[in-house]
This record gives sequence, C-alpha cells and structure tokens, in this order.
Amino acid sequence: MRTPLVAGNWKMNGTRASVAALTQGVAAGVAGLEGVEVLVCPPYVYLAEVAAAIGTAPVRLGAQDLYTAAGGAYTGEISAAMLVDSGCAYVIVGHSERRALLGETDGTIARKFMAAQENNLIPILCVGETLDERQADSTLAVIGSQFNAVADAVGIEAFSQAVVAYEPVWAIGTGETASPEQAQEVHAALRAMAAKRSAKIAADLRLLYGGSVKAGNAAELFAMPDIDGGLIGGASLDADEFLAICRAAAV
Ligand code: PGA
Repeated sequence: MRTPLVAGNWKMNGTRASVAALTQGVAAGVAGLEGVEVLVCPPYVYLAEVAAAIGTAPVRLGAQDLYTAAGGAYTGEISAAMLVDSGCAYVIVGHSERRALLGETDGTIARKFMAAQENNLIPILCVGETLDERQADSTLAVIGSQFNAVADAVGIEAFSQAVVAYEPVWAIGTGETASPEQAQEVHAALRAMAAKRSAKIAADLRLLYGGSVKAGNAAELFAMPDIDGGLIGGASLDADEFLAICRAAAV
C-alpha cells in the first residue's frame, strides 16, 4: 500500500511574512487529514522558520536542491547534513528547471541522490520530457534515460527510500496539464522500468505527477492507479488550494 504524498514546491517565491502565513495555513489545515503525507519545500533561507512554524503538525519539510559534498569550501552551496539539521526529511533532485537553467546532468543528479540518502534524506527524483520530445514521440525514451541513468548509478535498492516525480516540462507553470491518461501512461511505464530491476521495489515506489496540478484537476489525476500524489508548484503557494489538493489525494 503506497501512502499518497502531496509535496509543495515553493520554488523561489515568498517573503518571511508570506511564508509564515502560508505555513500557518497549511499546518492548521492538515489537522485531522489522514491517508496522505503532506510535504512543503520552501527556499533554503526559510527552512528553519518553516520547521518552527510547523511545530507538531503533520507536515513534512523538504528542500528544493542540495550539493553533493559533505562540507567545506563550496561558496553558496548547502549540504545534505545542513538540510537534516534544519529539519528536512526530503529533498527534490533533478527538477527540470535546474536541468534546463542550471545545467544539471543525470550524473550530477545521481550524485545528489546519493548524497541525500547518505544523510537519510529521501530524494524526490524529477523526470520529464519537453514539448519537442513529446511531439517527436520520444517521451518514454527520455523518461527512461533519465530514470535509468540514476538507477544504474545508485542501484534499484536505493529506490526503496526514494520518490520519483513525473513532470512533463510543457506542463510546468503553463496551466497545461497532462491528461490523467497521458500521465498514467508514463507512470505505468516508469513503474515497469523499475519492475525490470525489482518487482517488489517497483510495487512500493511512490510516483508523483507534477505540472499545473490544481484543486480542480487533482482528483482525476490521483484516481489513476499509478499516480501516488503530486509535486505542486504554483498551486502550493495558496494554503486553501494546496489543502484541497491534499484532500483529493487522501485515501
Ligand atoms: P507547477 O509546477 O505546479 O507550477 O506547474 C510544478 C513543479 O515544477 O514542481
């Protein structure tokens, strides 16, 4: 039984004041919500404050990225151990914005995945195709090479403590969502790729969908058999909208 996970990726948004209000709204709204794990991923600089504001509410904390080294002379970077020290349980790795804008390769992403797990952080590995790749009918090849590059490097056993998020690049922040059937097709293919390596790990692996998920389309996406929750960008910046998405995932 896979417990659904709904993760808010706040990206580079917010101020101390808005982040405090958003955290308070989410923390208050999850009271009594069962059958779903709720996670928020604020910008680094707000992690400790968000951790404090969450208090004992059932909201997990995650970061949006990490650096591979354990510490030392890496100006501007943040280690996995620092994230744990700040209250994180999860970290996003390989988001398409970092792949496209910051030049992250599958090799870097695999090393970040490993650095996270060495510190008991659960990596959320993002994969997804661009519009050109979808139109060229290479969606499953792209997803496969992104997933397999990391699985080859870390081994399938590592996915017993990881989450994978399918985020079609053309659906991120565009208002355009993959249809439930389009998303399910990719999720089923991803699970099959994992199952080739280990049927047991594939069966337990949580696969999130991300890309313009909102309260209005979440339920039909989450009803798909291989969609185990969502990675939510824009809609996670509004506590009521995010909570409605969390409720849609609750089983
Ligand atoms: P979006 O972003 O929900 O704003 O499309 C999703 C993501 O990038 O994780």
